[in-house]
Amino acid sequence: MREVAEGAARIGGGVILEAGLRGRGAEEKGAGDYVTEIDHASERAIVRFLEDTTGIPVVGEERGGSLGERAWVVDPLDGTTNFVHGFPAVGVSVALVEGGRPVAGVVHAPFLGTTWSASLGQGAWVTSGEGRGAEGSAERRLLVSDRPVERAVVGTGFPFRHKGLLGRYLELFRGALERFEDLRRPGAAALDLAWVAEGVYEGFFELALSPWDVAAGGLLIREAGGIVTDWDGGDGWLAGNILAGSPSVHAALLELAAGAA
Ligand code: IPD
Ligand code: CA
Ligand code: CA
Repeated sequence: MREVAEGAARIGGGVILEAGLRGRGAEEKGAGDYVTEIDHASERAIVRFLEDTTGIPVVGEERGGSLGERAWVVDPLDGTTNFVHGFPAVGVSVALVEGGRPVAGVVHAPFLGTTWSASLGQGAWVTSGEGRGAEGSAERRLLVSDRPVERAVVGTGFPFRHKGLLGRYLELFRGALERFEDLRRPGAAALDLAWVAEGVYEGFFELALSPWDVAAGGLLIREAGGIVTDWDGGDGWLAGNILAGSPSVHAALLELAAGAA
């Protein structure tokens, strides 16, 4: 299923690449929540491929659907605000979720020429330099970073659509900025998680994400030797409150989150 997920993510990425950065026709679904015709076109192409190839139901950010016992969970364009502004941190995320846990997952970054993939118990992998012919790199196994907590760079996302969460979020944010070396907010949660799995940065925290943002990336991190939980240290992270990182950075995040309840 990892190959099928990869095929699907690349199909979505193809639609996005063809459109080019700066998506046209952005509509506002809610405050600061944009969708473009390319989000829809990418989702339609991915859904057609997954349904034709596997017959398994597809839950997509734009079409909705319910998880059930087994479903594909798809974010056809993660980082729509980036896309609209011409910032190339844009991803496609495809995961197969069975009994509430991801068993295969792929995150693809069309403008960065990089694809991360994992399947449960089989490890996680990255291919970068795609589209550069012979210069492109081969598939490489992922391992989370072992940089110490005080040297860690940790990704995050702001709860800009949920201002009621700002108090809890900013408490952890403050603690994190004190405890770690630096923070990042590139604006595409699926890519943030993939970068943790790759050891590019050491951890990630965000509130109120959705299953399509985190299902594939969370599996990547677990298969790369990292830890993923919700903000209470439990297993409910698919619902969107997520703490992730290398074992030491995750432990530090959990401590900070306990103080931010
Ligand atoms: C968003 C991005 C962003 C995160 C938002 C997500 P979208 O996804 O992942 O980084 O902070 O909460 O909703 O809407 O661009 O698919
Ligand atoms: Ca998203
Ligand atoms: Ca999206």
